[in-house]
Amino acid sequence: MVKALFVFGTRPEAIKLCPVVLHMKSRPDEFDARVAVTAQHRQMLDQVLGAFGVTPDYDLNSMTPGQTLSASAARILATLEPVYADAKPDIVYVQGDTTTTLCGALAAFYARIPIGHVEAGLRTGDTSQPFPEEMNRVVTGRLAAIHFAATEGARRNLLRENIPPEAIHVTGNSGIDALLHVRDRLIAGELRGDANLDCFGRNPTKHLIVVTAHRRESFGGGFESICRALRKIAGRGDVEIVYPVHRNPNVTGPVRQYLDGVPGIHLIEPLDYVPFVDLMRRACLLLTDSGGIQEEGPSLGKPVIVMREKTERPEAVEAGTVRMAGTDEARIFTEVAGLLDFPETRSAMSRMHNPYGNGHASERIAAATLAFAHRGEWRSQVSVG
Ligand code: UD1
Ligand code: UDP
Repeated sequence: MVKALFVFGTRPEAIKLCPVVLHMKSRPDEFDARVAVTAQHRQMLDQVLGAFGVTPDYDLNSMTPGQTLSASAARILATLEPVYADAKPDIVYVQGDTTTTLCGALAAFYARIPIGHVEAGLRTGDTSQPFPEEMNRVVTGRLAAIHFAATEGARRNLLRENIPPEAIHVTGNSGIDALLHVRDRLIAGELRGDANLDCFGRNPTKHLIVVTAHRRESFGGGFESICRALRKIAGRGDVEIVYPVHRNPNVTGPVRQYLDGVPGIHLIEPLDYVPFVDLMRRACLLLTDSGGIQEEGPSLGKPVIVMREKTERPEAVEAGTVRMAGTDEARIFTEVAGLLDFPETRSAMSRMHNPYGNGHASERIAAATLAFAHRGEWRSQVSVG
């Protein structure tokens, strides 16, 4: 029996770890799976917990409005110590590259608990993009005992950093487990989206563009430029832009200031996961700086234009279904217009493929964990290096 503790705090970590939690909970003879949420995000985390029906065993309720990186990290690190002392897990799982990921791993390292890093090995090679996520992911990789890489490329990145090959498992991304599950149930009519959004993506004379943006390195000038680009795109008159606005005040401020009341732009609250997937399914194009949406777009056959200079997810860019636009107003407009005005470009980019996973990552993570436990590597891997 493996005592597994999942530690997460933000929306994307929850979307990508809940499928693994539920999978392990369905195997109670092999796993005692528990959940500690830092609640680095509060409302956006609760939306995901509700969608997956996951009830945390520990809730650190750490979010404060407008939190800084250091204050958030300090709170999370301090509050996790007693959780680990109480739960005494065999392994702590963290996901991705957030403050919760890094602090969850660091607190486990201090408590001498092995760390499983889900979605390990993504790299841009530039510690300023994404900031601070690139460094969070590098340090978490150094702390982890077992690495669950979504792709072969991520595995190669880890090997370059001298992670032992036997500690790396290519599993696919567990976010794609969640996506394909929800997509199939939407198609089967077993799940429904949000009735208030039913009007979008139905008008043949309007292209539905779904927008999200929240990256720290774009705060200030970058965000203003993104907003100006959205106004210009809306000005074409042949689009409907639906933009669920991230709750970070550095995002809501400029977005409300530049985009409130602009015809063709619909600013809405962050959506629950199922309605968001349903909306993406109906979109013509996804315009985003999100990591997760770069992975989801190709699996739904939706073109993605990325409002960032660099990505740690190169596979879909290489396959031609994701394009990089940066945050420059003119470049974003040109990329979007190129796609809307040239149906052949659009259809080439709308190819459905699964570079990031086929829906079976959770089982693979469970299997690799059992193999790791059976080899008795719990303790020996903690001091790798
Ligand atoms: C965080 C992650 C980022 C991830 C993103 C996903 C870090 C450093 N950043 O960025 O990697 O891509 O989440 O969305 O870990 N807020 C709310 N309610 C919520 C969530 C956020 O009000 O449910 C507001 C609060 O004012 C909070 C602020 O947003 O202080 C920032 O939240 P924080 O988690 O620090 O950063 P994000 O920009 O959300
Ligand atoms: N998402 C959601 N509701 C929304 C916007 C996004 O459920 O209104 C989902 C989306 O499908 C993806 C994840 O949130 O799975 C991406 O989260 P985010 O962009 O906040 O973080 P990132 O992936 O950039 O770390």
